[in-house]
Amino acid sequence: MANIIDGKKLSEEIKSKIIEDKRFLTLTSDSFISILQLGENSSSDIYIRNKIKFGESIGIKVTLTKFGYTEDTKNDPKIFDDIKKRIEELNFDKNCIGMIMQAPLPNAFTYDITEVCDLIKPSKDLDAMTSVNLGRISNNSTLVLPATVKAVVKILEEIARLETSSSTVDYLKGKNIVVINSSIILGKPLASYLLNHEATVTVCHINTKDLISHTISADIVITGTGVKGLIKKDMVKEGIIIVDCGISKDINNTDPLKANKIYGDVEFEEVEKVASYITPVPGGVGPMTVACLFDNLFDLNMKK
Ligand SMILES: NC(=O)c1ccc[n+]([C@@H]2O[C@H](COP(=O)([O-])OP(=O)(O)OC[C@H]3O[C@@H](n4cnc5c(N)ncnc54)[C@H](O)[C@@H]3O)[C@@H](O)[C@H]2O)c1
Repeated sequence: MANIIDGKKLSEEIKSKIIEDKRFLTLTSDSFISILQLGENSSSDIYIRNKIKFGESIGIKVTLTKFGYTEDTKNDPKIFDDIKKRIEELNFDKNCIGMIMQAPLPNAFTYDITEVCDLIKPSKDLDAMTSVNLGRISNNSTLVLPATVKAVVKILEEIARLETSSSTVDYLKGKNIVVINSSIILGKPLASYLLNHEATVTVCHINTKDLISHTISADIVITGTGVKGLIKKDMVKEGIIIVDCGISKDINNTDPLKANKIYGDVEFEEVEKVASYITPVPGGVGPMTVACLFDNLFDLNMKK
């Protein structure tokens, strides 16, 4: 039976450390983090609420600026101009210590997330969404990691500590790692990070043929597709380490309890019988991501 990694407990530890180390940040009573949101999205609303709550719990103010968006205004250049203007103000505002452009943007919006995030000054780019900060990860001169990537890294560090008491650097060296996600917030930067630590990395995605042929020989599988039950017991080897970043809901389920339940990518009950370490959903990567976002304040503050 697998060891279950408790993301909630680890996130509480990160929170305590942030509170303890906050004195090292350059903060005033007016300091704040700014979240920018375009349009309405109920999942984003939940993530934003969690970020504001976490900020309150560590004594850092988090503000939200919402930009209206409808199907009728999707091509209106004024929307992009308004976002640009606000980001430029925040870039120059000494009290703004970090910015987050909430993803995803509405599908039909004329500009993609990178075009918008690239307006953010890299030293205020709390979720490492700018091309500069993402590029630095592949160059192995990382300033800051996207929060979900950092959450996965911290989970791997915990496993390395439990397993070998060696550093993560040595632990990852030579491991066969399959990442099932190729997005700019997760798969691509995570693959670069793992490669920088001399793991052998395979990145899979929706067009990968015969997924099992990759996962079956992996030492570690990190998955983030939002496809419920994608990873089954017969797709992984005995002793596998599995980190599940996926979040999905079974919205068509007629049982309202099940329709509101959150699922990961992994068939947890089956896979935990063969895995050595596994993260649950909920309670694994999710709470870690919020904590890691705020932990990024130290990376931005120390290295700018
Ligand atoms: N736990 C967290 O804190 C956290 C944070 C961000 C995202 N997420 C979750 O991670 C997932 C991915 O988020 P994203 O923003 O990267 O989404 P995305 O849509 O940009 O990327 C999804 C990735 O999954 C791949 N994929 C989809 N279906 C697949 C399949 N059947 N087989 C193999 N690959 C498949 C796609 O090719 C793509 O690379 C979502 O479920 C999201 O909710 C979780």
